[in-house]
Amino acid sequence: MSDHFGDSTRAVKAVSSLPIPGDPLPPGPVLASAYHLSEDEGSEPNTYGRGSNPTWRRLESALAQLEGAAAALTFGSGMAAITAALRVTAKPGSVLVVPSDGYYQVRRYAAESLAPQGITVNEVAADQIHDAAESADVVLAETPTNPALDVVDLHRLVGICRRRGAKLLVDNTTATPLGQQPLSLGADLVVASATKALAGHSDLLAGYIAGNDAELIAALERERLLSGAILGSFEAWLVVRSLGSVGLRFERQCQNALALATTLQGHPSVRSVRYPGLPGDPSHLVAAGQMRRFGGLVSIELADDAAVHALVQRSELLVAATSFGGIHTSVDRRARWGDPVAGGFARISAGIEDTDDLVADVVSALGAG
Ligand SMILES: Cc1ncc(COP(=O)(O)O)c(C=O)c1O
Repeated sequence: MSDHFGDSTRAVKAVSSLPIPGDPLPPGPVLASAYHLSEDEGSEPNTYGRGSNPTWRRLESALAQLEGAAAALTFGSGMAAITAALRVTAKPGSVLVVPSDGYYQVRRYAAESLAPQGITVNEVAADQIHDAAESADVVLAETPTNPALDVVDLHRLVGICRRRGAKLLVDNTTATPLGQQPLSLGADLVVASATKALAGHSDLLAGYIAGNDAELIAALERERLLSGAILGSFEAWLVVRSLGSVGLRFERQCQNALALATTLQGHPSVRSVRYPGLPGDPSHLVAAGQMRRFGGLVSIELADDAAVHALVQRSELLVAATSFGGIHTSVDRRARWGDPVAGGFARISAGIEDTDDLVADVVSALGAG
């Protein structure tokens, strides 16, 4: 695809079908567990639904194009993709670095399922990851981190991992491929949840891995076949459909996030605001060096948990929900899930509402302070 196209154009092109007269413009989902077999055994592109599916391949081709990858593999959820990537890259005896300040279920998996197999699991925060990488075999970085929105310097981390021969996996869920392309910076694999902004409508779970190393991709595909951590083809089709509009949605989410962060940082009820796109944010310089857009998430701290509940209750637009990237602006009080944050800490996921409406609503719901 042409390099000069913008992200919305690339997203639309990525989900376009070939112009075969009479074929539907949007091909439907292929709902099949079994396919007709050939006498020329092994020549069929599809044999059984756990191994491959034409709708996955459409989605995988689109995701690979957006991530700038040679190949992508879809999985049943972000966790299915991340855990498959960890199982394939970390072996007994390996030293694995996982984020202590990233998505909490990932470090739980590492502690509960990988550490007992003889993998040394080091949980480190974004600002410690470079030092920890100096003695690692596999590094999983999440940037910006969920929920604090710290940013890992990927240029520096790639340099360390390459020097050591360590594999670098980057969770690209919060940034999306429209926000950053870790593979172009030198990461070995992108792992991500497509449940969030890519699918974008809070109605399904999906995950993917993208990479350029054919041998590694083949090992991951085998892991998916054997573990059965596959995506349903209807969900794959819904993600393809959503990807066509991700450029528009993500652009608005980023715009709304910046407007909220800018407004909230001066508000008397708000103790602190984190958004990598704010010029004064501690992560801004590093973010500006590796991100093309700063994403739809903003983290704030209010006085306490009651203040977060009151914000949602008084608002006409905010919904309380523990996911992000959807069309609605949502608020999640992260202490509820055991994240190491204050009771009044909330992660806001900016939706696609009109920016002026959203800012006015949130300011009014916060009250005078
Ligand atoms: C950064 C990050 N990675 C991975 C996941 C897991 O994705 P899924 O819920 O699709 O399994 C999440 C979920 O919130 C996440 O925030």
